[in-house]
Amino acid sequence: MTAFEQLQTELRAAPRTWLITGVAGFIGSNLLEALLKLDQRVVGLDDFSTGRRRNLDEVKALVTAAQWASFELMEGDIGDVGLCARACQGVACVLHQAALGSVPRSLAEPLASHRANVTGFLNLLNAARDAKVERLVYASSSAVYGDHPDLPKVEHRIGQPLSPYAATKLMNEIYADVFARAYGRVSIGLRYFNVFGPRQDPEGAYAAVIPRWIAALLRHEPVTINGDGETSRDFCFVENVVQANLLAAATTNAEALNQVYNIAVGDRTTLNELFQLLKDGLRRRDASLPDSQPVYGAFRSGDVRHSQADIQKARELLGYTPGRDVREGLNLSLEWYCRNLR
Ligand SMILES: NC(=O)c1ccc[n+]([C@@H]2O[C@H](COP(=O)([O-])OP(=O)(O)OC[C@H]3O[C@@H](n4cnc5c(N)ncnc54)[C@H](O)[C@@H]3O)[C@@H](O)[C@H]2O)c1
Repeated sequence: MTAFEQLQTELRAAPRTWLITGVAGFIGSNLLEALLKLDQRVVGLDDFSTGRRRNLDEVKALVTAAQWASFELMEGDIGDVGLCARACQGVACVLHQAALGSVPRSLAEPLASHRANVTGFLNLLNAARDAKVERLVYASSSAVYGDHPDLPKVEHRIGQPLSPYAATKLMNEIYADVFARAYGRVSIGLRYFNVFGPRQDPEGAYAAVIPRWIAALLRHEPVTINGDGETSRDFCFVENVVQANLLAAATTNAEALNQVYNIAVGDRTTLNELFQLLKDGLRRRDASLPDSQPVYGAFRSGDVRHSQADIQKARELLGYTPGRDVREGLNLSLEWYCRNLR
């Protein structure tokens, strides 16, 4: 039995109360689905700035009526101190996902990113401290590695942040560390590496590469690759991220606390390979789709050239074992997009 299988049995036997911020978003709604299916009580907080009500509707359709009745939605902004305080009342564990994602968005609107990602994070950290929440697990990012050249990325070697977004996530790690030292609060940061999967939004200027390309291919529209296509990423299926959050929330290993962890697969896929995988996967499902070629554009400012995680620390200290590699994850995602985007 893996550490995650064992944890799921324990959670079912002794349900807890969780707060998920950013619950209507891509990762937040996947966490909600997993926790409700484990019969947990969940409070969700979201301001619907980038999250979607349809994500919550989909989760509702995937769980039982009794499980859905264990979910309470609080609508609002983590910039609201009083709301953060109310949301943390009676909560054992916070899974903090609310933030404005996207490097380009942060370059265009650095103040908005700071407000949501830094001020909002601090509000929540402080509210969790006041409410004596046992554990706060928060979404950091591989963007924190910035211009550090080493591959694979190891947690203790980071470079200079290359975007306001990266700076906000680094600030999260600094504040979490300070709250551990100054107030004895326990938190764990998860540096996600390019997460993908069902419910990731394909629309808008700041959509992530996988849903954006899938939507373009399904609509017979051209796909633009920024740069020469040899830029690479450690794409991570959302199920692995859910596993990491739950393991981090529940670990009793003292060495594992107040740490940050890479959450990825430990693999590397170039954008050219990704395009091929998506096109082939979609054409296997729909032979009428054209054998299109990508259009190559300029490199995007703020982007790092290569990204690949060393996931040994999460394996050793949290018992993290990514269950799905990129190909499996892409197949499951393509199923979902074909069902939902047509
Ligand atoms: N998706 C990835 O590849 C990836 C990679 C690294 C880190 N992350 C981090 O993971 C977290 C979740 O990302 P996601 O991909 O699910 O994005 P998402 O945009 O789908 O979800 C974020 C959610 O937070 C909500 N939100 C934003 N600002 C808020 C505020 N001020 N108050 C309340 N709610 C607010 C949004 O409405 C949305 O529902 C974010 O912190 C993001 O920075 C994501």
